[in-house]
Amino acid sequence: MSTGKRIYRLALLPGDGIGPEVTREAVRVLEAAANRFGFVVETHEHPVGGAALAAGLDVLPAATLEACRNSDAVLLGAVGGPTWDHVSPEQRPERALLGLRKELGVFVNLRPVVVSDSVESASPLRPELVTGVDLVVVRELTGGIYFGASFENPTCDDGRVDQAGNVMEYTRAEVERVAREAFKLARRRRRKVTSVDKANVLGVSRLWRDVVSSVHAAEFADVELQHLYVDNAAMQLVRNPRQFDVILTGNMFGDILSDLAGTLPGSLGMLPSASLGGTTGLFEPVHGSAPDIVGTGKANPLAAILSVVMMLDSLHESDASAAVQIAVAASLAAGLRTADMAKPGAHLVTTRQMGAAVARQVAGDSLPDDQVLLAEQLYSHL
Ligand code: IPM
Ligand code: MG
Repeated sequence: MSTGKRIYRLALLPGDGIGPEVTREAVRVLEAAANRFGFVVETHEHPVGGAALAAGLDVLPAATLEACRNSDAVLLGAVGGPTWDHVSPEQRPERALLGLRKELGVFVNLRPVVVSDSVESASPLRPELVTGVDLVVVRELTGGIYFGASFENPTCDDGRVDQAGNVMEYTRAEVERVAREAFKLARRRRRKVTSVDKANVLGVSRLWRDVVSSVHAAEFADVELQHLYVDNAAMQLVRNPRQFDVILTGNMFGDILSDLAGTLPGSLGMLPSASLGGTTGLFEPVHGSAPDIVGTGKANPLAAILSVVMMLDSLHESDASAAVQIAVAASLAAGLRTADMAKPGAHLVTTRQMGAAVARQVAGDSLPDDQVLLAEQLYSHL
């Protein structure tokens, strides 16, 4: 008999490095939100990446993939690290992540970058340059050079690779579907899309540009469209980041530009992501496994916690999503900082303390109206 409670199955893939530390805090916050807003999250943990190899399994075990397919959402920590630098290419932990993205069919990756007043001082760029930044990188995630034809020919006498290559390739259909998502997102925001390519050199980029322009002309003429070469886009991102609303780009350029965009809020530890468009949404912080700080309490759990915000949005739990968003903003406004963002005068906290502070606020009483409004403005479009 139905109890009327909303129940979600969450596949939890903590992975390697700081992955387990940050996902633990994200789940803690998620549970606080579930308790407060009357839904249930059934969490099941599964091995992936180096953690799976260490357990004697494949880097992306079939059972893990199957569990992800049968879940309402997947929350992943991080994969990779120097321990696996010398394993065969198919067994690299990164392959697990690429396999997961491909198998789940999550072709559109949203990476929002928001700089609030309380974090502007953490940026290496001048506050007046970054304050008010509110952009989303829309990265194509299941095609391009990451998935094109590749070869590594061991033709040296000693068996080492003498020649290697990767093809950057896209089909019209692949570009069309991600472009459409970017334009739809822009319509819920400031109606501007900047498409980033290298059309002055690469044929694949000329196709990209042609398709984006066609989709725009046919369906989204009310949205402003601008094309930038990737080298110029990188410069513009640090020179005048506020000009951007939605940045639409391919898999590799999106990877590079999103790390660069991490400088705007001061730390990659602030950047969440959602990978959508397939069978199950995949949510993960943009940062990697950060092996150098594992176990030190220095990892910033906010990217993972903000990934939970995006997950709650995709599950239509918008009150819970707003509450977590507000709790993060309030913790930052109160001066709490993990080591990656610490400045003199900040209240330095550990990974767990940050998670606990956010969870405590999520569990708290009803929120002042002005804060609800603020959160809606910032995140309703995601
Ligand atoms: C990212 C990461 C991954 C990528 C790696 C870990 C495979 O850098 O999500 O940005 O390149 O996509
Ligand atoms: Mg990356």
